Amino acid sequence: MKKVFCLILALMIMAIMTGCAKEPEEEPAVSPGSVVVGFSQLGAESSWRIANTASMVSAAESYGFALMMENANQKQELQIKSIRSFIASRVDVIVFSPIVETGWDNVLREAKQAGIPVILMDRMIETTDDSLYTAYVGADFYAEGRKAGEYLIKKANALGADHLNIVEISGTIDSTPMRDRQRGFMDVISGDTRFTVIDSISGDFLRSKGEECMTDLLARYGADGIDVIYSHNDSMTLGALDVMEQAGVKPGQDIIVISVDGEKEAVQALKDGRVNCIVQCTPALGGSVMSLIRGLVVNQRTIPRVTHPVEAVFSDFDDLTDPSVEGF
Ligand code: AHR
Repeated sequence: MKKVFCLILALMIMAIMTGCAKEPEEEPAVSPGSVVVGFSQLGAESSWRIANTASMVSAAESYGFALMMENANQKQELQIKSIRSFIASRVDVIVFSPIVETGWDNVLREAKQAGIPVILMDRMIETTDDSLYTAYVGADFYAEGRKAGEYLIKKANALGADHLNIVEISGTIDSTPMRDRQRGFMDVISGDTRFTVIDSISGDFLRSKGEECMTDLLARYGADGIDVIYSHNDSMTLGALDVMEQAGVKPGQDIIVISVDGEKEAVQALKDGRVNCIVQCTPALGGSVMSLIRGLVVNQRTIPRVTHPVEAVFSDFDDLTDPSVEGF
């Protein structure tokens, strides 16, 4: 009897173990190219965007998905056109990075009517109908703005500053990172009377416009009138650094520079003392997007509504020789 019991127990344990071991094999095999992803990228305005596109391309390849990719060159109407062409091609899923938050409801309703799920990558939309998209994968831009504000408070405390004039170089007007990085930053600093935001101008996330904005700001306020630059991305920051240096201003010393992204050149500028703080925003979203697509399209599972990557802050308070302080 004891032997029979042991045998049954052993068989049960084996069955449980086999069941566990089988888990990954239960993923249905995808024949290469059988899942078609329509991807509308908003443009190529920054190093961030270029790295983000590369991440999507390589992740789609490693998952064996066919990627129909179109670049909208910063134009919403081109993104809408691409989405319509993906619907006409009956892709399995549409992924897009909306240039601005508003104006998507009609085209997304068409995708919904065609039964094609939509994943928002990197940026959000403003809509009254949340059923128009299935998931969002991207940064928590509001948290990024807050981190920038928290750094500034720490810096002001360390300097013993009693008043600082801030200029903001913002990203594309009405885009999620522009709106939320601004809101998060303001929510943290606005109760503190040491800070005055004297100006906010948009550099559209472009290095060339970062240069133009900085030229304009120096002409208007002079280097002595500006204590802090809060720039919504590294590309604009790098443009602004060039202009400051040409004007004989030492960024990082004469003016506190706070940036967002973490691209290699900007991280080097931080290490060189020309930038004071970088709030990280990772462009490597492709893996998360493709994993959700596998869950949704291949395995027909419910997927998480929101996925935020983990992001750090690098600043002149840190040990910048630490190998974790590196750019993309
Ligand atoms: O939406 C993410 C932002 O867009 C990045 O911070 C910026 O570099 C890019 O252009």
